[in-house]
Amino acid sequence: MSVTSNFKVADLKLADKGRLRIEWAESRMPVLMALREKYKDSKPFKGHRIAGCIHVTKETAVLVRTLRAAGAEVSWSGCNPLSTQDDVAAALAAEGTSIYAWHGLSKEEFYWAIEKTLEFKPTLTLDDGADLIFTVHSKFPQLARDVYGGTEETTTGVHRLRAMAADKKLLYPVIAINDSETKWDFDNVYGTGQSSLDGILRASSVLIAGKTFVVAGYGHCGRGVALRAKGMGANVVVTEIRPTAALKATLEGYRVMPMDEAAKIGDIFITATGMKDIIVGRHFDSMKDGALVCNTGHYDCEINLVDLEARMKGKREIRDSNEEYVLKDGRRIYVLGQGRLINLAAAEGHPSEVMDMSFANQFLGLLKLAKDGKTLDKKVYELSPEQDQEIAFTKLATMGIGIDKLTAEQAKYATDYSAGT
Ligand code: ADE
Repeated sequence: MSVTSNFKVADLKLADKGRLRIEWAESRMPVLMALREKYKDSKPFKGHRIAGCIHVTKETAVLVRTLRAAGAEVSWSGCNPLSTQDDVAAALAAEGTSIYAWHGLSKEEFYWAIEKTLEFKPTLTLDDGADLIFTVHSKFPQLARDVYGGTEETTTGVHRLRAMAADKKLLYPVIAINDSETKWDFDNVYGTGQSSLDGILRASSVLIAGKTFVVAGYGHCGRGVALRAKGMGANVVVTEIRPTAALKATLEGYRVMPMDEAAKIGDIFITATGMKDIIVGRHFDSMKDGALVCNTGHYDCEINLVDLEARMKGKREIRDSNEEYVLKDGRRIYVLGQGRLINLAAAEGHPSEVMDMSFANQFLGLLKLAKDGKTLDKKVYELSPEQDQEIAFTKLATMGIGIDKLTAEQAKYATDYSAGT
């Protein structure tokens, strides 16, 4: 472990490798890099201290570098025990970033790291899952006085924060980055879709074609996973609790059924619901020998591993991120990534190209809070639709794609309610 008063990372000697990975991500994140260029001289975050708690990946490093270039002091931790890329954390530490993150930390170490980032008394917070902001509210509420606002990256975190706001418990305003269209409609769908398949393949290297692939939850993430699994030739089965989502999945060509039935026929299972206990003991009881089980929701509560352990004779790690549970009746169930986010536990998370838009939203959300946070109500906000269109427009431009513009005549038609047949 490499430790100073400013950081704790696995091994500082990994910094060179991490730096190259960050440079690779920078070459794929033109929107965020344009923001770095735009704000590097005016330094709008000067005087601001940003505490961040989000997966420590090469893409996050590009965001951290951009915030620092725009004048912020930052202190960082990871938001999942298995998602930190140790070489990236080392590179950030080596370039002077305060960071407390390493792969495989325990629950106690996880919260220790979050608390370390609060020591410099942040003026802004950035979350992915709301653990940092919840720590401020539950353990250090006095810190909230100096905080202009916070941002939240993910669906699960936004749910937690909206519940806190409804209870009038929020001590400062929050921007739900997840709710920007250029976040949820890209990161959650195409990012989760590709990277979850990537995680399953790295952990198992099984053939996807011809397999019965069960996706629990048909929200944006589940939709992305189903789309990619289908594209690789799987027979996709969807389980849901919401009638509209189940209907959408049906009309998009998937079989929909309760998990009790899907459990009997699935070869590969992935949970993407944000809810606990999606796969429990009775499902393990009816699974086929050799079934693969994993999760891509934020927390590791979707697959009940306590139930699985109660049924096992023994387990062993058969390859990286892949544990073979041998059940008392001899069947084998393979759990990938310990039931934690498979795309980050076994692969590298979403590709840089989608994180480019998510993190452009993060940067602009923090900028808004740095400017206006003290005058906003203590509630959950979203970025404006105009901001979304601007990010999408810039992204398209970096991809060399042009689009049409409304003519003056069309603009008039759009608001003319008297025009009929
Ligand atoms: N969440 C999912 N993928 C990610 C990535 N590459 N970086 C940071 N957070 C993520």
